[in-house]
Amino acid sequence: MDLPFLPTPQPVIKRIFYFLNNKITLKGKSLVDLGAGDGRVAIFVAKEYFMQSSAVEINLEMLQTIKDTIAQIDSDKDKLTERIRVIEADLFNFDVSSFDVVYTYPFPKCIRSFIHIFHQMKKGAYMICIRWALEPEQILPFELYDLTEIAQFPVYIYRKG
Ligand SMILES: C[S@@+](CC[C@H](N)C(=O)[O-])C[C@H]1O[C@@H](n2cnc3c(N)ncnc32)[C@H](O)[C@@H]1O
Repeated sequence: MDLPFLPTPQPVIKRIFYFLNNKITLKGKSLVDLGAGDGRVAIFVAKEYFMQSSAVEINLEMLQTIKDTIAQIDSDKDKLTERIRVIEADLFNFDVSSFDVVYTYPFPKCIRSFIHIFHQMKKGAYMICIRWALEPEQILPFELYDLTEIAQFPVYIYRKG
């Protein structure tokens, strides 16, 4: 099951994490981006919010892009490499049970697999879904923050109850 590379626009990423940081203090928390693309989300949260981030990606060129970008922008002060893990893996077989925040860009054809991932998450963890929402009756109990207006892009954040 493959998802194409469609990046989340940078201003949308900024608005999502500004919002989330007001709900929970992100510093020191863990995030995994399932299908990390060019790594923009994993890099952003490690750099701006000092989160421990993991970029899970299956495409070798994308994995190299992520590593190259980190190498280019890292500095002694930032120590980004200590906070970002770049992982070659199939997102549908990746264990998310230890993460505080799970970032996803699902597609309708595989929404059921993302529901399965939601069930793996620990209680209180957040799943961020870009563009497509989960099926609410399949993931009860949860809290939903619909950020579509704030982010000016379809963004749904679920907190697992
Ligand atoms: C829609 S893009 C999202 C990129 C990034 N998360 C963002 O929001 O900017 C989906 C990414 O998932 C990757 N991908 C597709 N199938 C995958 C799989 N089975 N396991 C891991 N990554 C996968 C693609 O290579 C692509 O980079």
